Amino acid sequence: METLGREEAAVEEAAAIIARGGLVAFPTETVYGLGALGLDPAALEKIFAAKERPHEDPLILHVAEPGWLEELVEEVLSDARELIKRFWPGPLTLVLSKSSKVPGLATANLSTVAVRMPASPIALALLSAVGAPLAAPSANRFSKTSPTTADHVLADLDGRIDAVLDAGPTEVGVESTVIDVRCAGSPLMLRPGGITREEIEAVLDHEVLRMEQVAAPSLSPGLLSHHYSPRARVRLFGLFRGPMPRAMLEVIRSAAAQMSGSVGVLAFDEDLSALRDLPVSVERLGSIEEPRAVARRLFAALRELDAKGSTVIFARLARPDGLGETINDRLRRAAGGKLEPTENE
Ligand code: TXA
Ligand code: MG
Repeated sequence: METLGREEAAVEEAAAIIARGGLVAFPTETVYGLGALGLDPAALEKIFAAKERPHEDPLILHVAEPGWLEELVEEVLSDARELIKRFWPGPLTLVLSKSSKVPGLATANLSTVAVRMPASPIALALLSAVGAPLAAPSANRFSKTSPTTADHVLADLDGRIDAVLDAGPTEVGVESTVIDVRCAGSPLMLRPGGITREEIEAVLDHEVLRMEQVAAPSLSPGLLSHHYSPRARVRLFGLFRGPMPRAMLEVIRSAAAQMSGSVGVLAFDEDLSALRDLPVSVERLGSIEEPRAVARRLFAALRELDAKGSTVIFARLARPDGLGETINDRLRRAAGGKLEPTENE
C-alpha cells in the first residue's frame, strides 16, 4: 500500500486509483474515510471486503458540492436545504429518500441514502478530481475505533487497500452527525457527531428527536453497541462535577494492584493530579470544560492505551451537552453500553 502526501500530484494519483475502481483512504475533517466510487457496485464490494464490514451497515456518500446531492436523492426537502446552507461543508450527514442511481449495496438495500459534503480541503480536492460521489466509511476494520491519523489507517488496513493520503491528524476527531430529515418538523438524530443537537435545533427551530424516542431500531443498522471498541475492556463511570471522585480512584487503585502494568485511564486534565502516583498508563483528553479538544483526542487516546498493552481502560462521562453528547455516545459504545455502579459521594 502506498502512502501519499497532501500535494496536488498525490491527490491526482489518488483520484486515478479511485477512478479505476480502487480504494484510497483520505482525511476528512472528522476521521479518515475509505474512499471508493460510490455508484459502482464492484468498487463498493471492495470496501466491505477490506473492512470486513457486514452488508447490513449502510455507507455515507460524499459530495464535492451541494448540487451533487440532487441526483442521489428523490427530493431535497426544506429542512435539508436549511441544514445544508448552514453546515455544509462540514460534519453533518443527511439521510433522505434515495434515487434510482444509488446502488442498494451503498445503502444496505434501504430506501434511503446518507450524504455529506466534507470540509477538509484535501477531501474536497479529491472529490473534485474524481468528479463523482465517493462512498467513504471510516477507514478502520469493522467495529474498531475510527482512525484520526494515517498511522491508524495503516494499523487496520495495510495490505488491504491501494493507498492512503496522509494530511496529519483530523480536526474534529469524531464522525459526522447523522440526521434523518425525511419527516418535516421531526428531524431524527441517528448518530450524534461533530455538529451538536443544539446547533441543529437553532437552525430548524424544532426539537431534534433522539433514537430512544422512536421505536425503530432498524432505522440506522450500523449503530451496534459494540462499535468503537478498543481491544481492552472499557469500564465507564458516570458524570461527576469536578475532578474524579475518590470512589472511582479506589476502583482504579485496586485494579492496578491486581494487574500491574496493564491498567489504562482516559483522563481529563482535572483528574491528572489524583492519578499521579498510581501505576497506570494515563492518556490525557484535555479539560472537561473543552469538549472540542476532548473529541479530537478521544479515538487516538483509546488506540494509544491499546498499544501500551492495557487490558482494562477506565473512563468517565463528559458533561452531556454540546459535543459532550457525542463524546459520551462513543464512550458508551466502547464500554459495550455498561456504566459502573457508583455511590453518590
Ligand atoms: O464522519 C463521517 O461520517 C465519516 C467520514 C469518513 O466521512 N464516515 C463514517 O462512515 O463515519 P461510517 O460508514 O463509519 O458510518 C456510517 C453510518 C452507518 O453505520 C449508519 O449508522 C449511518 O451512517 N447510515 C448510513 N446510511 C444510512 C441510511 N441510509 N440510513 C440510516 N443511517 C445510515
Ligand atoms: Mg465507522
